[in-house]
Amino acid sequence: MLDLLIKNAVLSTTGKKADIGIIKDKIVEISTKIDAEAHEVIDAEGHLVSPPFIDPHFHMDATLSLGLPRLNESGTLLEGIQLWGELKPQLTLDALKQRAHQLVKWSIANGTLAIRSHVDTSDASLLAVEALLEVRQEIVPYIDLQLVAFPQDGYFRSKGAEANLQRALDLGVDVVGGIPHFERTMQDGARSVKALCEIAADRGLMVDMHCDESDDPLSRHIETLAQETQRLGLEGRVAGSHLTSMHSMDNYYVSKLLPLIAEAEITAIPNPLINITLQGRHDSYPKRRGMTRVKEMTAMGINVALGHDCVMDPWYSLGSHDMLEVAHMAVHVGQMTGVSEMQAMYDAVTINSAKVMDLENYGLETGCNADLVILQARDKIEAIRLKPARLFVVRRGKIISRTKPVFAALNLDGEAHQVDFLK
Ligand code: FE2
Repeated sequence: MLDLLIKNAVLSTTGKKADIGIIKDKIVEISTKIDAEAHEVIDAEGHLVSPPFIDPHFHMDATLSLGLPRLNESGTLLEGIQLWGELKPQLTLDALKQRAHQLVKWSIANGTLAIRSHVDTSDASLLAVEALLEVRQEIVPYIDLQLVAFPQDGYFRSKGAEANLQRALDLGVDVVGGIPHFERTMQDGARSVKALCEIAADRGLMVDMHCDESDDPLSRHIETLAQETQRLGLEGRVAGSHLTSMHSMDNYYVSKLLPLIAEAEITAIPNPLINITLQGRHDSYPKRRGMTRVKEMTAMGINVALGHDCVMDPWYSLGSHDMLEVAHMAVHVGQMTGVSEMQAMYDAVTINSAKVMDLENYGLETGCNADLVILQARDKIEAIRLKPARLFVVRRGKIISRTKPVFAALNLDGEAHQVDFLK
């Protein structure tokens, strides 16, 4: 007797029709037809079933703070950092947690069931760390939250940042972060990469650095990150977030750099919604896009995972934490419009991101956790095109969110109920 049976699904992993049998919190069978009895049956009606969306790069301590204490007038990265500095003294534990919980509701409704969030460790109070550690525990039944110790004001540049980061890790923050391009000099940035990777190696933790988030074609911290990863044997456990300077780098140098990233098994985490809006701000025309070289990295077999980064905070006023919006933007900014390239951008917000977070039992296979999303779309490309309703979101075998199907003119499987001009 199954607990949950999903019939007539199209698997995002193979594109084939299948039924999915679930007992308790695990997928126990996937086959063309399952006739077993079940306590609950969902008829997927030929819609796409996918493992959940994963956001590998987010800032949950800043989310939904838009307008506090004021709006970002220039819309730039640096004014965003300044604005966050103005807001920090006003933060309270309750307000941080309330906003995080609100965001998580949106995430679940959109089928995102794991988030890696950076948390600012610059402040000696570690208030945001305390708040998000509590949130991490409270949302365990719904979402896997992984926290990165992020020295936003600079690991060496900001007084006390080194000790505060270590204290955050002692409290249970999962991953070591960094911001080398924000240190005072290129040398300090490189030193910070080395020091932070050594902390990760000592503690047996993963690394995820904001790395070269600028338009500076000579920023070289990703090279140092690749070198330190190999020196310390951290292959497969390190991510370089943003890497926007690679957009502007000399092509010859990039031809040397890409194999170094591949050798070190570093995951690249571009954040297309944010990169396209914050980078290129000092350009006239032509104006750089600022997103890292997703096409070339993907072709080389480098793991590329896409992050949302921000939702309604000092750096980005928009967003609803929908990872399909991120994939959609990546397709456009990165000119990833080939069939397999579009499919790769869907994978970048699902399986590639799960790999970054080292999630256990993730996927649509027998034995995996019964975590999945049924979308009102027929395949991965249609999902990116329509950003459709997430009809059912299932976590550990339980339906935790439902959304009614939308019958709009663009949605080919329904009648055009909202269109009346062809009567
Ligand atoms: Fe970020």
